Amino acid sequence: MGPPEDEASFGRGTIAPMPLRVAFIAAECEPWAKTGGLGDVVDALARALASTPAEALETPVDVFLPRYRGLEVPSDRLLGSQTIRVPDPHRDGTATTPVEIIDVRADGYRLRLVDHPASFDRAGYYGDEAGDFPDNAARFGLFCRAAVGVLRAERRMPDVLHLHDWHAAPAIRYAPAAGHAQAVGHAPAGTLPPAILLTVHNLAYHGWTPPDRVHELGEEWTSITAPSEGVDLLRAAIQGADLINTVSPGFASEALTAAFGMGLDGDLRGRGDRFFGILNGLDTDLWNPATDSVLAAPYGRRDRKGMAACRADLLTRLGMDPADDGPVLGMIGRLDPQKGFDLLAEAAPRLLADGVRLVVQGSGPPDLVGSLRRLAATHADRVALIERFDRDMARRIYAGADGFLMPSRFEPCGTGQMVSLRYGTPPIVHATGGLADTVIDEPTNPGSGTGFVFRDATADDLVRACRAFVARHGAGGQPWEALLDRGMAVDFDWRTASAPAYVAAYRRAIELKAAPAPVIEPRLG
Ligand code: GLC
Repeated sequence: MGPPEDEASFGRGTIAPMPLRVAFIAAECEPWAKTGGLGDVVDALARALASTPAEALETPVDVFLPRYRGLEVPSDRLLGSQTIRVPDPHRDGTATTPVEIIDVRADGYRLRLVDHPASFDRAGYYGDEAGDFPDNAARFGLFCRAAVGVLRAERRMPDVLHLHDWHAAPAIRYAPAAGHAQAVGHAPAGTLPPAILLTVHNLAYHGWTPPDRVHELGEEWTSITAPSEGVDLLRAAIQGADLINTVSPGFASEALTAAFGMGLDGDLRGRGDRFFGILNGLDTDLWNPATDSVLAAPYGRRDRKGMAACRADLLTRLGMDPADDGPVLGMIGRLDPQKGFDLLAEAAPRLLADGVRLVVQGSGPPDLVGSLRRLAATHADRVALIERFDRDMARRIYAGADGFLMPSRFEPCGTGQMVSLRYGTPPIVHATGGLADTVIDEPTNPGSGTGFVFRDATADDLVRACRAFVARHGAGGQPWEALLDRGMAVDFDWRTASAPAYVAAYRRAIELKAAPAPVIEPRLG
């Protein structure tokens, strides 16, 4: 028998709270499927939650992920599989389609792959050269339905469903009917559906579903949508979740403004203090220059000697002169307008004239890097462009470059700046979102900065910050070493602050769910 539990004490801390059961729904999770920071964060948070005190969470947590093409499960990690049937989004009426749920022992959590080849055995996760897949609502709707469906079938509904980005948003309308965790005795039988925490990693992608596709989301959505209207899935989840966070306090404030809100600032403002920021952490086991086996030499904060070998190794591999000790700036990212590759391209001729060399890795559709490609072709010894997602090369860049560029136009959090700090490579970042929250500008805080921060998303301002960097790099000596040391000392470990903040958010989401619904005056007009 567990401790006595009744409605009055539930979740209010009058007795020791029961461990929570949490399930994630997400479209990416490293190392199984990743195009960007979303994949890193889903994996790292799920793993960090495994090391929270046992009384806080029931672990391991579940992470639902689509089984994309090529995602193979090593047999020694296979925990089991089962087939459930869900409504077939491509057919009308009561037709159902089988979905296999494959359970995998991941590192610190249970990965639950949703296997439906017609939806996910494709050349891309979200689209191909022709653009987004037109049936994305059907695909991610089915994914969410299967996740909620299997939890319901197992009678193990979590206390909190943690939805990540628009791909998980369809669940907002499948979950309420699901019934609560009677089996684990957290609440009076059947009284509470799972509380929902929505984490917005990227406010730019909404999962817009046009009117002629809404039926693919099923009756739960068509019944609330007029036939002429489409559905903005992210907006619907923002409106319906018990609690919403984004991945830094800075971006949480920015998102409330028209300039950064991507059309959803009004909806976010409407949720009041139910919308807030939790700064992402960094997986300090995965990102550790002292144990990084890809690097030419290990190093750490107390002994940075290995950095020189890492720099020489990077430059040699790219056909650049390792003996030239002029500044080398690295940049890594998805080829997305968000990331500011165009600012770098515009700034590049001035930077090259200043003696800077550039090492740029960009993955995704290449139309954004035309001018960088031309520069790389004409200045092969000074500009390297790596047009692919290359995990090992990324590590070599973090370690071997002298500085790391993140000129993002907006950045809900960003991972690269945290990695580069830990790898002793000072970041040069635009003052936005999580970048502004994690990097302290050395020129305006001499002796206490960790990098270089520029105010405006313009090539001119970027050049200004790079010149400040170049001056300090060139001067070298103790001030430079102290700058690296401060950056390497910053503690971004998930376990320190971010994971505990999520546990607190889970508890708050449950309390909000359990509280009587506020009376909402109908809005006219
Ligand atoms: C998205 C955001 C990025 C954030 C990541 C993980 O990729 O653009 O800023 O770090 O999600 O939360």
